[in-house]
This record gives sequence, C-alpha cells and structure tokens, in this order.
Amino acid sequence: MSDGESGGRGGFRTDLGFVLAAAGSAVGLGNIWKFPYITGEYGGGAFVLIYLACIALVGLPLLYAEMIIGRRGGKDVLDSMSALTAHAGTPGKLATWGVGLLAVGSGLFILSFYAVVAGWAVHFVAISVGLAAADASGSEATFTALAGNGGLSAWWHTIFMGLVVFVVAGGVQSGIERACKILMPALMTILLILLAYVGITGGLGASLAFLFRPDFSKVSGEAILEALGHAFFTLSLGMGAMVTYGSYLQSDRHVVRDQLAVAFLDTAIALVAGLVIFAVVFSMGAEPGAGPGLVFITLPDLFARIPGGAFVALAFFVLLVVAAWSSGISLLEVVVALGIDRFGWSRRTAAIGIGVLIWALGLPSAFSGEFLDFMDNLTTRYMLPIGGFLIALSAGWLLGKEDREAGFTALPGGGAILAVGWTFTIRFVTPALVLLVILNGLGLF
Ligand code: TRP
Repeated sequence: MSDGESGGRGGFRTDLGFVLAAAGSAVGLGNIWKFPYITGEYGGGAFVLIYLACIALVGLPLLYAEMIIGRRGGKDVLDSMSALTAHAGTPGKLATWGVGLLAVGSGLFILSFYAVVAGWAVHFVAISVGLAAADASGSEATFTALAGNGGLSAWWHTIFMGLVVFVVAGGVQSGIERACKILMPALMTILLILLAYVGITGGLGASLAFLFRPDFSKVSGEAILEALGHAFFTLSLGMGAMVTYGSYLQSDRHVVRDQLAVAFLDTAIALVAGLVIFAVVFSMGAEPGAGPGLVFITLPDLFARIPGGAFVALAFFVLLVVAAWSSGISLLEVVVALGIDRFGWSRRTAAIGIGVLIWALGLPSAFSGEFLDFMDNLTTRYMLPIGGFLIALSAGWLLGKEDREAGFTALPGGGAILAVGWTFTIRFVTPALVLLVILNGLGLF
C-alpha cells in the first residue's frame, strides 16, 4: 500500500490527483447543462460578468473555508467540524450538527435526482452509438419519450448509480483519484475537440459576442440571485464535499493554490462549454434562451443537421456523462466518508449500502418530473445555501485563528494580507450574500 492510504482512512497520492478530483466534483451538469441554459435565459454577457463576480466573492472564500476545515479537521464533514469547533461550546455544537445533518441530507437528495438527469445523458450516448432508438419524429419527442418514461429513466439511473458506487467503493486513491485522473483529461480533450470543431464550422464569433459583450439593460435582481446560487452549486459548495476531499490532503501548503486551480478549471470549462453550445445554436439560427431543454432537445436537433453531427453528438454526451460521473462520485463520498469515520463501516459496505439507498430515493424522480424539480429546488435553493451560510460563519467566527489561516500562513511570504482579506470576507460579505440567496429562495423578493 502506498503512503497516502497508510493512515488508515486513505488520501490522495498526489496534489494533482487532489486538484483533478476536486475539479471533477465541481465540473458537472452544472457547467455543461445548467450554466449555458441560464446564461441563455438571462441574456448572455452581463450575466456572465455577474456570475464571475459571484465566484470571486462567494465561491472562492467558501471554497477555501471548506478545504481548510477538511484539511485541518482530517475527517468527514461532521467529525471535522466537531474537532475544529469543540472549543466553541454550544455554537460549535449547533454548527457541527447543522452542517453535518444538512451535508448528509444534501448528499443523498442531490445525487438521487442528479443521477436521473445523468442517466438521461447516458441514454443519449446509447442513442449516439445506435444502442437505443431515437424517436423518428424529432429530438423533442425523443426527450419527452425518455423523461416521460419512468421505467426507462430508472434503468439509466440504475446504470449511472452503478458507475458511481463502483468508483467510490474502490477507495480514495485507487478509486476516486484514479478515475478522475482519467475522466478529467478525457473531459478536457473532448471539450477542446468540440471547440476546434465549432472554430472550423463557424458560429464562434457570434458565441463569443453573446458571452462576453455585456448588455447591462438585461441585468435584473433575479439574474443576480440566480448567478449567486449557481456560483455555489457549480463549485460543489454548501454540503461539505470540499471538506471531505480536503480531509484527504496531506498538507496545508497547497490549499490556496489548489482552490484557485479548482475554481479556474470549473469556470473555464463552463465558459468553453457555453462557447461551444452557443456557437452551434447561433450557426443554426436557433434560440439561446431555450431553457432546461437546451442540451437535451435543442442541441440534438442541431446535431442532426450539422456535418459530422453523429460524431459531435456522441462526443458531447460522453462529455456530459463524464462530467456528471466525477461529480456524482463526490456527492456519494461525503456520506460514505461519514459512514466510515463516524460509524466505522467498511468502505465497500458504506458505498454499496448508501448507494442503494440513494438509488431508491431517486426512483420517484425517475418517474415524476415534478418530484425531480422539487428535490432540485429543495436542495439548491434551501439546503445548500443554509449549509454554506453555516460553514461560512463557522469558518469565520468559530475556528481558531491557527486553523482558520493555516492555508495562508503556509504560503511563501506568510500570506498575511490575504488572510486578513479572506477573514473579513468570510465573516461579513459571504454570509450576507448567501443570506440573500436564501431569502430569495423563500420568495421574499
Ligand atoms: N458541482 C457539480 C455541478 O456543477 C454538482 C455537485 C457535485 C455538487 N457535488 C456537489 C453541488 C456538492 C453541490 C454540492 O454539476
């Protein structure tokens, strides 16, 4: 057994492995399915700018907070929080249990519906290679026939959950790290091939203008809140996914550098995915604001009409599956790590047992689009922001100074100014902004 696993609970073998796994968690359906369609709905460039600001003000500070809690706590999310806030008395206990329970709940609930949507992507891969039949009357009919067919959705949901459990059961190093070291480069390669394709076939200019030429007349309060909420979801924040992965880090030294790399990869991949998708959309004279059906209805429609479309479709849906896979892994790992660290379960038992539970929880989403939306809203609008709010307050106010600033003090030069800036942000700015997301979710604006 190599070094990283010798501690008993496992760990990433290399720093690159950690970055790829954490980026694998961050890059998912949020980047390739959701980011393009909300950008399309909210009018492009101005929304992108707001989104980037939200990543900087909320995403980065929280990402650091989660990683440092995991790194210093060295355990699953509940036990890490407990270890680092034990000295804080009742507030520490409340924060620990609040974050811990929300993390488990979010992990189970998010993966349950996420796996259904990812399963649809697997179905489209199967269509692309001729293993499954597409509806002859067009993409909309194909998608409706799939999403409206509970048995079929449940079947692909089962396959996807199997893929996720398989990797998580394999361990941190030989499962997660190894898988992400293959999946992430594969994802980036496919994306670059698609980018090259649209670069040659056209539409890139219109797409660039749409994404990067802001039209501020389109900015609304709603767009800002959507961007803020999405900054959260896309970086996998608010439920201890980054705490859990951070706990497998071997030293404080790379936390700051690694979190920047993860946020950069996540943002870059969302932007490139958007560039590719809108290039196809514009070159075919289609509408950017198609909503959630953009990836599953509009794109397949366009793929059917472009040169080499069958190949492009295959590449695109494999990309979607790969992205969702490495994210699903992190969602399961949060709960599995807790089963191992807190209850002493074996990794295999935890991965399979919890996987089956999540699979069962996902069945209602496979059979009912309304239930799927309900789970999506419950977690994205309420549970994750509340979890993020508690994590921000805990990191800012409850953690000891040494733990809190460990990532900065380990920087060459001491990182004193960064530490001051971060502490201020995580104490005041991030919680205030996250509170806005929560109140918005409650329909108060
Ligand atoms: N970030 C992923 C995406 O954009 C989804 C995800 C994975 C996630 N793990 C998470 C979201 C944990 C919130 C919390 O698709």
